[in-house]
This record gives sequence, C-alpha cells and structure tokens, in this order.
Amino acid sequence: MKTVRTIPRMRSEIGAARVRGGSIGLVPTMGALHEGHMSLIRRARIECRFVAVSIFVNPRQFDSASDFHSYQRRLEDDLAMCEAAGVEAVFCPAAGEMYPEPPITRVIVSGVSERMEGAFRPGHFEGVALVVAKLFSITGESRAYFGEKDAQQLCLVTRLAADLVIPVQVVGCPTVRDTDGLAMSSRNVRLSAEDRVRALCLPRALFRVGDSIEAGRREVSSLLEEGVAELESGPPDSIDYLEVVDPHWMAPVERVESDVLVCGAIRVSGTRLIDNVRVAVANSPPPTAAVSYDPRRGGIR
Ligand code: PAJ
Repeated sequence: MKTVRTIPRMRSEIGAARVRGGSIGLVPTMGALHEGHMSLIRRARIECRFVAVSIFVNPRQFDSASDFHSYQRRLEDDLAMCEAAGVEAVFCPAAGEMYPEPPITRVIVSGVSERMEGAFRPGHFEGVALVVAKLFSITGESRAYFGEKDAQQLCLVTRLAADLVIPVQVVGCPTVRDTDGLAMSSRNVRLSAEDRVRALCLPRALFRVGDSIEAGRREVSSLLEEGVAELESGPPDSIDYLEVVDPHWMAPVERVESDVLVCGAIRVSGTRLIDNVRVAVANSPPPTAAVSYDPRRGGIR
C-alpha cells in the first residue's frame, strides 16, 4: 500500500493503475475509520481493481473551529486498517497541499444543499462540494463510494458529478449501525454511556416514522408529530430537525406518494448526530434520468 501526500504523486499512482488496466475506486473520508467507512472500502474492493482511500480532515467544511480541532485524528490506525483491507493507495495530503492558497472558486450545488444540514451548518456543503470536486479532478474516471448515512451529501455529490460531467460514478452504500441501532460515526466516541442511551432516540424516531409509512400512513404532519414525540423521549439536548423528504431533491413532502427519506439531527452533550432511513413506497416513479445514482437500490435497513 502506498501512502501518498501530494497531488502529483496521487495522479501518477492512478495513471499507472489505469495503464495496468481495470477500474479505479475512490473512497473519500476524513479518517478515524470505523465499520461504516470499511463497508465502503470493502464494496470498492469488490468492484474495482485499484482502490484509493483519501483521508483529509477538510477545514473548509467545518462550521465550528472547535469541531474541527476536536475531530479525531488517528492516521496510523487508519493506515493499518486500509492496509489490512487491501487498499492500494491512501491519499493523506496536508491542508497546504489541498489549499496552497485560499480558493476563489466556489462550488455550490443549489437546492439539494439548502435545507437540513445546509441550513444548520452554514458553509458546510460548499466546503464538501469543493473538496469532493478536487478529489474527483485528481482521480479522474472512477467510481466513488459514499455512505447513505450522509444522504444529503450523497445526493449533492451525485448531482455535482452529473452537472459538471465529471466521469465519476457515485455509488451509495447502506448505513452501518452498531448493535444498539446507532449509526456509526467518528463523533460517537464523544458520547458517554448515558449520552449514548439518549442518542438512541434518533434511530428510534426515524424507524418509527418509517414503520408508520410502511403501514400505510401518508400525512407527513402527523407522522412528524409521532417522530418528535419519540425524539423527545431521549431526551436530546436539542432537536435540529426531523423531516420527510424526496430523495432526489431533498425537499420536504406533505404527503408520501413515492419513496422518501426520513432525516433527523439532534444534539446530545455538545455532539451533533445525524441519521436517516429510506422508505420504499410501491409504484414510485423512476429517478430522474440526469441522476446516475439510483437510491432505490440497496436499502438502509
Ligand atoms: P466522513 O465523515 O469520514 O465519511 C466518509 C464516508 O463514510 C462518507 O461517504 C460517509 O457517508 C460514510 N459513512 C460514515 N459513517 C457511515 C456509516 N455508519 N455507514 C455507512 N457509511 C458511512 O463524509 C465525509 O467524511 C466528508 O464530508 C467527505 C465526503 C470525505 C468530504 O470531506
């Protein structure tokens, strides 16, 4: 496994792999790898001849300096996990390599990035879109693996690649949960045992709403009342949002007529947690042709 710190070296490793033949897989991460990340890497390993993982704690997507500074950094462990998983190259640039000077190009994926995480974390998605556009530019023609855990991010990078005809096929992978139901996240280590019990109200509320939709309920306002009551049973310190949205546009729906995502975000002892569940509804129309990722394939549950 190669540990690569510069963009030219990364380009030449990928160029050499392309000459050898076979597909290129990219798994973008911010490190502190857990089973959620490893599921993406394993899927890439199955589908691609050459697998590259990027590990870069992207300063431009943090809306709070303290969140950026307290973000876990465990590069040695991450490299060992990548090596054991059969990764060919890990791209772990310093901030100065990715941003030699403050970029004046802005990448804004409108619409899908405005609500939910976009509303609660100003600038977050602009930072994500910029770094992902750079990673896609470095990698070139490839498949890139993203988790459904961050459904809005997955939607955004899919639209980014489609709109800019970047030859990267975005592949969405199901959310990996701990045995208690909490979606795995690098931020979960900040939770005490008591926080964790409170945090479980999030998956409980999402699955409760999902189950009610599966049972035939369609009016979103009453579904959300039920979901909020479940969230409040945690209780979390605050509820940022609970929404039922269309998976292609991330826009809230009033009635469930086709497949939806139930998305939520809460705060527990200063830690922000997000999660979502996807609910399939019979006779949903096919996704819009411009979007290559079909979120109906592969469920969360
Ligand atoms: P990070 O939070 O490290 O996540 C990297 C990838 O792992 C993302 O695609 C995320 O959705 C996926 N992931 C995280 N937890 C998961 C889980 N429990 N199950 C399945 N997949 C999971 O997301 C980012 O980094 C950054 O925004 C990035 C895309 C790397 C850009 O900086």
